Amino acid sequence: MFIKVERDYEAMSQRAAEIVADVVRGKPAAVLGLATGSTPVGLYRHLIRIAREERLDFRQVTTFNLDEYEGLPASHPQSYHAFMWKHLFEGLGLRDEQTNLLDGMARDLAEECVRFEERIRQAGGIDIQVLGIGADGHIAFCEPGSSLAGRTSVVSLHPQTIADNSRFFENEEHVPRRALSMGIGTILEARCCLILANGANKADAWSGMIEGPISAMLPASALQLHPWAIAICEPAAAAKLRHLDYYRHVDRERADQPLLPPWILQPERDPRRRAVAAV
Ligand code: F6R
Repeated sequence: MFIKVERDYEAMSQRAAEIVADVVRGKPAAVLGLATGSTPVGLYRHLIRIAREERLDFRQVTTFNLDEYEGLPASHPQSYHAFMWKHLFEGLGLRDEQTNLLDGMARDLAEECVRFEERIRQAGGIDIQVLGIGADGHIAFCEPGSSLAGRTSVVSLHPQTIADNSRFFENEEHVPRRALSMGIGTILEARCCLILANGANKADAWSGMIEGPISAMLPASALQLHPWAIAICEPAAAAKLRHLDYYRHVDRERADQPLLPPWILQPERDPRRRAVAAV
């Protein structure tokens, strides 16, 4: 895992936006995996700025979002559909058909999950997956106890997540109890994972993700198994890292190295592909 601690939320967001922009600069038909929540809002703001300043072309990009609530139509202001249009898609001028979000209103939710995975495969797989982390270590809506090999499925939200998200709804009663979410197995197949954290309330989960054992009780720790996960935070989220000095040292040492894996542009260099080919 590549660990970076930026000076503050702005610097973290800017750095993350540069990384996503780099993927699109190198591969105009990139497949972007996206997250909602408060953490990536700054990243999206900077990405829109970069796109405008550089006239970076997003017309060939395809996006897939991690999750969506069950039972909220795309038009609902708290749906993740609405969030993405407000914070990113509109600013980038994306067309509806470039974006893929799970349909929480689908008649057959299980079938919707299967179809979503199929669409990711047809798009050629996700090049970079943006992630936030919950205070309990969840990624997407994969709550503690989720299978580390899980696929996109219908999940029940943890009472804590319901309470945390109630700030966006009239009251806790209005927060959906279930959601559709990529699984950890789905997320780990992305060619690169980019996870962000800010705020002291993420410090325990962040240190557990990086320094703790790999455990379903802290789903983000599964990223230790990913061959190219980039973890960027600001000082408050980094406060409980025991080896912070070492991570800063490594970061300085590899300052002249590319931050993206070579296999985004050259899929044959993906070590996981080679492993399959060797069997
Ligand atoms: C949302 C998602 C969630 C959030 C996490 C952190 O698509 O995948 O896992 O990333 O709940 O949320 P914030 O950023 O609001 O702290």
